[in-house]
Amino acid sequence: MRFDVVTLFPEALSPYLAASILGRAQQAGLVEVHLHQLRDYSTDPHRKVDDRPFGGGPGMVLSCQPVVDAVEAIEKLDPRPALRVLTTPQGRRFDQQAAREISQAQRVLILCGHYEGFDERIVEILRPVEISLGDFVLTGGELAALAIIDSAARLLPGVLGCGESAGDESFCGGLLEYPQYTRPQNYRGLSVPSVLLSGHHGEVEKWRRQAAAERTRARRPDLAPESDTGAARSPRARAGGRRIGAAIGVVAPWESRMEAAAARGVAPAVR
Ligand SMILES: C[S@@+](CC[C@H](N)C(=O)[O-])C[C@H]1O[C@@H](n2cnc3c(N)ncnc32)[C@H](O)[C@@H]1O
Repeated sequence: MRFDVVTLFPEALSPYLAASILGRAQQAGLVEVHLHQLRDYSTDPHRKVDDRPFGGGPGMVLSCQPVVDAVEAIEKLDPRPALRVLTTPQGRRFDQQAAREISQAQRVLILCGHYEGFDERIVEILRPVEISLGDFVLTGGELAALAIIDSAARLLPGVLGCGESAGDESFCGGLLEYPQYTRPQNYRGLSVPSVLLSGHHGEVEKWRRQAAAERTRARRPDLAPESDTGAARSPRARAGGRRIGAAIGVVAPWESRMEAAAARGVAPAVR
């Protein structure tokens, strides 16, 4: 799987990408990550990439020319079509389902904003999937890009070692993971639940299932399959999302973008 990241700060991503599991995945040829300096695509003699907002107001807005040219040039570097992702606090909230969908694309091109973000025409022209890391505002899209790459890459076959598993953890079966313990058996008066020391696999499994369900109910009732928010990926909810997107004038909400990407063969079909 190939990732391309367009950023003003490639040096902010490099150390994280080189470390641990992601570093090994790249060395093994399972994942490629290419970092591109946005300024390299500016036609301005001073490599300027931004300008003041029309209508006034603070800050600077990333201009159309360098961003659109960067995407068009970078896409030509590899024949595989790229799923375009634009990082923004106004996008679809990123979650494990989004990571799963992204991990099925052969190639993903991520745009990192900065300052006040992107000229809106960039979204209209490139029609990317817009992703938010959460309801908070970062200074730039680099952390969001790393979160997307990391969470999608670790779902690829072979990226996690045999001791690690992406199939038995939080959000996999719609639940949070059960509590984990390691040596010693007693620490500061706190003991490991005895069933985990019993060697009885059936009982351990049962305890873990119950503990995961209890923990999920207590901490994340919204994940319960029967709840409204837990059904957020249902066809009805998706239709609602489209209606909301149309009502508030969003050019194309996540589901439509993913469906468009699926039609181009760049992303899996939206479930
Ligand atoms: C300061 S933010 C711009 C915020 C924008 N003016 C707004 O109010 O929606 C600069 C850049 O950081 C990135 N960013 C900030 N918060 C983010 C979030 N929650 N998720 C993903 N990217 C984010 C985006 O790339 C964004 O273009």
